[in-house]
Amino acid sequence: MTSVPNVTLNNGVTMPQLGFGVFQVPDEETTAAVTSALEAGYRSIDTAAIYGNERGVGKAIAASGLHREELFVTTKLWNEDQGHDQTLAAFDTSLDRLGLDHVDLYLIHWPTPARDLYVETYKALEKILADGRARAIGVSNFQIPHLRRLLERTGITPAVNQVELHPGLQQTALRAFHAGHGIATEAWSPLAQGAVLGDEAIVRVAEAYGVTPAQVVLRWHLQTGNIVIPKSVTPDRIRQNLDVFGFALTDADMAALTGLDRGLRTGPDPDTLN
Ligand SMILES: NC(=O)c1ccc[n+]([C@@H]2O[C@H](COP(=O)([O-])OP(=O)(O)OC[C@H]3O[C@@H](n4cnc5c(N)ncnc54)[C@H](OP(=O)(O)O)[C@@H]3O)[C@@H](O)[C@H]2O)c1
Repeated sequence: MTSVPNVTLNNGVTMPQLGFGVFQVPDEETTAAVTSALEAGYRSIDTAAIYGNERGVGKAIAASGLHREELFVTTKLWNEDQGHDQTLAAFDTSLDRLGLDHVDLYLIHWPTPARDLYVETYKALEKILADGRARAIGVSNFQIPHLRRLLERTGITPAVNQVELHPGLQQTALRAFHAGHGIATEAWSPLAQGAVLGDEAIVRVAEAYGVTPAQVVLRWHLQTGNIVIPKSVTPDRIRQNLDVFGFALTDADMAALTGLDRGLRTGPDPDTLN
């Protein structure tokens, strides 16, 4: 079984620090991938309405035989569904596709600042939380000004901000803001979709520990305090990415990875995606 530690979110709900992401996995392949992940020992699954694979996730969960309380399921509200009433309707649709009566974490996928709807959208998430249909609520891809505005205009501090974060894009200022406000940092594309796995420093550390570059990067995240959700459709890699609790990086090796920060954004810029 897995020895993944839990992170306690700001409302007391616990969330596994390492979970499984399914971005870019076609719905018809998602059930097999999530089944492999659950068999390997993952208990946290990260999907989104826009991924088109909530049904595939739901099928794997239903077939797993696991109790609902053993699982932590995250999904996200897509940009076009922002707005108070639209959000409530989109959430119902997501639950229906997942075949669940609640999610563990519901996130606003992007702030889309030009739409200027994220405050009222978040108020709909607060209602979903109050109704017990999400155990925690949060945001994704929010920059500091977006978070400040939410904190000023709404009642509940987001439990999580899920952002692009890996050794090439370390989000130092944002992580410090999160720490100051009780917001957990969750790293998407924790492996930079493979773009950092050939970095010389990472390869050198991997060789020293007899592990893979991906395992070194995931270990760096865990020791930094990030929640991570690596994605793979490859059963060996699915298992490998969970097998990161048998070694620990030294301070010097942590520093070698921290030295790789270089503004490497592999996904969209949250200030301009609308
Ligand atoms: N909130 C957002 O806006 C947002 C945006 C992007 C992603 N996400 C979430 O974050 C999750 C992870 O991000 P991601 O999928 O973009 O990228 P990622 O997890 O950084 O990287 C996935 C890529 O790395 C490969 N890979 C996985 N494990 C590996 C290993 N041990 N060795 C070598 N290569 C490996 C995978 O290949 P194979 O699959 O072929 O094995 C895949 O091509 C997503 O699935 C999604 O849940 C959220």
